[in-house]
Amino acid sequence: MVVLPRALIPMLVLVGACGDAGSGEGGAGGDGGAVPSAVEVDAAEIADAGGEGSLTVAVTAPGTITVHLASDLVLEAAAVGASAASLNGPSALVEPDGEPYPGGIWLRPRPVTDAVVELVLEGSGVIEVELFVRGAPVPEARRERSLFWTDPSIVDAPQVVGLARVLGAASDDGHGGVLLDNWLRRFATTQHSERAGPAQLADEIAADQGADPSAWDLDVLPFKVTGVHNRIDLAARGGGCGELRVSLASTHPIYAPLHVLFLFRQAPQDDDVGPDGAAHCLGTARRWARLSSLDGQAFTDAARALLDVTLVRERFLLAETVELTVSPWEWRQWSPAGADELDNPALFQTVDAPRLNVPGALRDELFAFVEENAEGLSRREIAIPSKFRSASARLPPSAPAERLSLEGLDPAVLADYPDLAEAIEIVGCPTCHTTNASFVQTTVEREPSPFYDLELDARADRLDRLNAGSIEPVPPFGPLQ
Ligand code: HEC
Repeated sequence: MVVLPRALIPMLVLVGACGDAGSGEGGAGGDGGAVPSAVEVDAAEIADAGGEGSLTVAVTAPGTITVHLASDLVLEAAAVGASAASLNGPSALVEPDGEPYPGGIWLRPRPVTDAVVELVLEGSGVIEVELFVRGAPVPEARRERSLFWTDPSIVDAPQVVGLARVLGAASDDGHGGVLLDNWLRRFATTQHSERAGPAQLADEIAADQGADPSAWDLDVLPFKVTGVHNRIDLAARGGGCGELRVSLASTHPIYAPLHVLFLFRQAPQDDDVGPDGAAHCLGTARRWARLSSLDGQAFTDAARALLDVTLVRERFLLAETVELTVSPWEWRQWSPAGADELDNPALFQTVDAPRLNVPGALRDELFAFVEENAEGLSRREIAIPSKFRSASARLPPSAPAERLSLEGLDPAVLADYPDLAEAIEIVGCPTCHTTNASFVQTTVEREPSPFYDLELDARADRLDRLNAGSIEPVPPFGPLQ
């Protein structure tokens, strides 16, 4: 293949830069208008001022696209009609090879630090390659920028992420006072558990601020934002590109500990979707990682912009609580259920050990389910049916929890999977919140529990691997560490 002098290259890509398919005619292998099998492109010509862009190039297979880079870049390509594709260069960073999808081969985004790389394409006939430049390689994830924000310019700024802002975003009326009032009172009226504390807090707010909750000033209430959490790790299992979560804690002298978590969906953007139409969320992974290079006002502005698009009603998923306003500790989830109302679904992945430990039909059903799914359950890959879960879970502050007993299960299954009960329980609220953690994962002081500390390291490592181009398995339910 003939390598062209760099000066000629911009001219060659101009045709393709208009987005015109079959624009490879200018390539070195050109043969009087036939689609060449060797094409040269200059990455700088693809990128816009923000360092991102795309170009469609046609090559006859087997063929090669030589990409010249003036600076390190994240490159991605979709080769429509190819049977195989790889990116070759002097450094090992251009791995992995292309991954097949129904229409061709996808080369997932990866950092390229070589001045020249060759995209080698196999197949037959003309292959149309869309080349994407996704900006400069991203920095390593710093916890306080890319995973867990406690920066005062964010968490102490009520207009950015305070109680009023978050409740307003979660509510139907855009204010959130009615939602809060209904919610606090609902703690006391659910059949599975009746907790008076939160409802008394609603009484107190009404006594202070009047009986109309839609007129309450929510930012003066005794709650503190304890953190903003990036849960992109939930993308593959939960849909979308995972969640952004805001945690708050009560600072009331009586109605505490009372911790709430608001879950908002991260929506896939154009650069989060592969050529097969499925979300891989690598654009979102880069956006979060890039925050790690920012400090001061630049970080504050970028974080606020991200919150502005995320803290909206359409993205609100549900809320969660863990509280000890009366003993014992209690966990609940709260899903939208009618205008400005929240109610308790069966707790996600949380087996109701006290109920399941009692001999009877339900325990028999559980055993049949566990015996059939033992391997997947041991790997924490199986969704637990709602009939084995309950709408709330409770643990006393100082007595050991009642653990799920699998006594009587097929001994062969127990022998094969000796840690099955632990694997089933760790994906649920109370066990995870008390394993290397003391009921709460983010303290009122904005400190992570030892469990959460390790989890943050694991999430940072995974984000780095994704941004390095690594093909990561879908994380199991429960801990990543
Ligand atoms: C894998 C372990 C794990 C499981 C299972 C789990 N949590 Fe958490 N929880 C965490 C971590 C870690 C955080 C910190 C924020 C984050 O990572 O999303 C957290 C945060 C919270 C918070 C904010 C207060 C705090 O402790 O930081 C609430 C409320 C909460 N979880 C409730 C629940 C409920 C309800 C369930 C069950 C449906 C549940 N959690 C299941 C690990 C877990």
